[in-house]
Amino acid sequence: MAKRMSKRMIGMIYEMGSLPIILASNTGNTKTFIPFIQEHSKRDLQVIEDFNNSFPNNNRLAIGTYTWGNGKIPKRLKEYLIKNHLQLPGREILIFGSGNSVYPKFCGAVEGIKKICLDCGADVIATFKFEQRFNPEKLTQLELNKLIGNIKYWSR
Ligand SMILES: Cc1cc2nc3c(=O)[nH]c(=O)nc-3n(C[C@H](O)[C@H](O)[C@H](O)COP(=O)(O)O)c2cc1C
Repeated sequence: MAKRMSKRMIGMIYEMGSLPIILASNTGNTKTFIPFIQEHSKRDLQVIEDFNNSFPNNNRLAIGTYTWGNGKIPKRLKEYLIKNHLQLPGREILIFGSGNSVYPKFCGAVEGIKKICLDCGADVIATFKFEQRFNPEKLTQLELNKLIGNIKYWSR
């Protein structure tokens, strides 16, 4: 009994606390989604923009990014993920990104990051792409419900 209780307590400690968001936002557009996540998240968020930091060790995390070049992941974010790829297996990850649909590979970085995460054995809970600055009014009620549901599940 004592053993079972201590196991549960360890689990609780592990799952408590804020959830990390690894964020690459050059001109601030991708960042506009953070208040929406915070509004619907069951936990506080911790935004990580300095990739010199060690990789967060939470079971669940989010990665937000803009897209560069021809559908590319920003170099320093890609390097951060590849450097820490051994940390990814089993993590539950929400991926979001801002892009501009004038480019042929709209939010290509989101797909690139999804590929890296899946290749490394992470569980990608959901991906979400938006045009420039996030505006919930551009979404249908169905899309909005789905997005909020994904955020709630991710932050459970
Ligand atoms: C040189 C350049 C290349 C870009 N390439 C793409 C692209 O391939 N696909 C895309 O969806 N958006 C592309 N974008 C648009 C940015 O991803 C978009 O403006 C995004 O909102 C910037 O986010 P941030 O303000 O968080 O940095 C490009 C922008 C620039 C300046």
